[in-house]
Formats: sequence, C-alpha cells, structure tokens
Amino acid sequence: LLLMLRGIDPAASAPVSIDPINCLDSGLKCCPPPSYKEIVDFKPDSQPTPLRIRRPAHTLDAEAAQKYEKAIALMRALPRDHPWNFIQQSNVHCAYCSGGHVQLGTKNVTIEIHGSWHFFTWHRAYLYFYERILGKLINDASFAIPFWNWDDLAGMSIPTIYRDNTSSLFNPTRYPTALNFTNLGGCEGDGTPGSLDKQKLCNLQVMHRQFAAASNSTSIFFGGALRAGGGSFPGGSPIENSPHSPVHVTTGADMSQISKSGYDPLFIAHHSNVDRLWAIWEGIPGKSSKVIADPDFLDASFLFWDENLERVRIRVRDVIDPRKLGYVYQDVPLKWMDIKT
Ligand code: C2O
Repeated sequence: LLLMLRGIDPAASAPVSIDPINCLDSGLKCCPPPSYKEIVDFKPDSQPTPLRIRRPAHTLDAEAAQKYEKAIALMRALPRDHPWNFIQQSNVHCAYCSGGHVQLGTKNVTIEIHGSWHFFTWHRAYLYFYERILGKLINDASFAIPFWNWDDLAGMSIPTIYRDNTSSLFNPTRYPTALNFTNLGGCEGDGTPGSLDKQKLCNLQVMHRQFAAASNSTSIFFGGALRAGGGSFPGGSPIENSPHSPVHVTTGADMSQISKSGYDPLFIAHHSNVDRLWAIWEGIPGKSSKVIADPDFLDASFLFWDENLERVRIRVRDVIDPRKLGYVYQDVPLKWMDIKT
C-alpha cells in the first residue's frame, strides 16, 4: 500500500537474476565456460561437513599455508577452459561487474554488483564456491580460505605467505609500498620517524568511523537497492567505499582493477575480511533486523560453477547466515571497535 501511495507499482519491481545463456564478452572475455547441463538450485550441504574456520592469513601455521598454496597451484594447473581454472575463477568476479552477465528478462542490461546492496551478498557467495572448489582440489572438506586481517595492527601489510615469488600465492603486480603498509583510506605517511605508527593508528580510526557509519541502519550497511533491470551504482556501503576500495587501490596493479583483481590471490583474503566485517556487524545485538526484508533483496540470485561441476543458482537468502554455509571466522581482538577518533 505504501508503495502504491508513493506512486510506485509494486508489480514492476523484481529481484535481479542472471541469464544463463547470454553473457556479453565486451572486450574483457571474462564470461564463464558454458554449461550444457541444467542449472540446479543451490542447496546447503545435506551431509554434515566439518565447520570451516577462516583464520587470519598472517597467523596461518605452516601446514595450513602449504595446503592453501597447493590448492591454488592445482587451480592454476587446470586446463584454461575448466570452470575451476584459476583465471576462470578470477573471471567470475569480472563477469559480475564489467559488462559480462546479462540480467534475465533483458536483452543487454548487464549486472554490476558493486556500489549496491549486493556488494556483501555476491562476494560472500563467490567466496563460498571458491573455498569449496579449493577444498575439493585438495580433497579436504574442512579447508577454509584465510582472511587478510588488515584491521589489526599485525595484519596491516601483505601477509608473508603471499610474498614468496615462487609460490602460487604470489602476484607480480603488487606495489613495493604495500609490503610495508596497507592503507585503509587516507592514511599516508610522511617519512618521519614514527610515521608508520601514526599510519596504523589512522587505519584503526578509519575502521572505527566506517564501521560506525555503516552501522547507522541496515540499509546503509548494505548499500542502495539494485532491482531487476537496474544497471547503475545506486550507492555503496560505507565499508565498500573504505576500507574496501583503498585496500584494492594501494595493493597493486591487478588488485586495483575490478576486472583483474581476482588475478591476485590476495583478493580472496581481502574479501574474506570484508565478509568477516559483515559477520561481526550481524553479531552485534540491536533493535532492528540485520537483514533487509525486501524480497527484491532476498530473492536476487546469481550463477556459479560449484565444487561438483554443477552450474548452481544461489539466492541472497541462502547466504545470509555463514553457519548455514558451513564456515565461521576465528575470533580475534577488534582494537578499532573502542578506539577514539
Ligand atoms: Cu568485487 Cu573488492 O571488489
């Protein structure tokens, strides 16, 4: 009724969904390999699987680091047209933002999941399938991707496991400055003694401010509504704007381009931390619901290749609870939560 009073026809709005056939390879060539099988609807694991615990990348023990390194090496070694191939998996991100996947029911309106309420939800789904595929490749259902804990004083630079240039976790386009410091937004140094400490404090303040700004309301936290047929950026979450974007831009050349950021394995750890911030916010008790009740949000759906080589349609409502997806984040101190700004 409210919608009708405002002059909006409720029947005209619908959740976004993806055309399984039509993907525009607009110059970037990042559309996925076609599927000749039926698309299946996502179902959470019917068999109990071990809970996957995502840990800070800078604290991974040698065994966990080796597993991760091996899984990415296997992904890189797959044939180029295999849906799990490292470049194919990187391109999944590209296809959801750079003029790739076409929205169902339109001829050529492509999906852009950034700058909208699908920023957190789409990346969560993407990481979920990525993690399950890596686990499959090393035959370990308990395998969990790490998170880049850049909101902690000890995590504010490229974690050691990503630095060895013979490792599958390496990317040659990173900036040398990123080895020293990860900038969460406007925390440049001046080269004076003690400057790095000031930059790190600045980072904690950015974290505090942005998290507080995002927490003002559920709709601010997620970002602007993107409904079927919408193609533009209706507005990003404060957390997407920063620290998310500055971390991309200051880490490296691949990391700073949406279409190529998946080429750097750091992308997964970066977004794992972004996803963790959603889980942290969700866990803070409050009066209002931490979910957008709008069906255009909850029933939006995306397509992914899964760990069984099925093409799967997953809805936003399937990704709201990480536990239902089988993973949690290791608890670590949140120094920025109570810091003065
Ligand atoms: Cu899909 Cu960090 O961007």
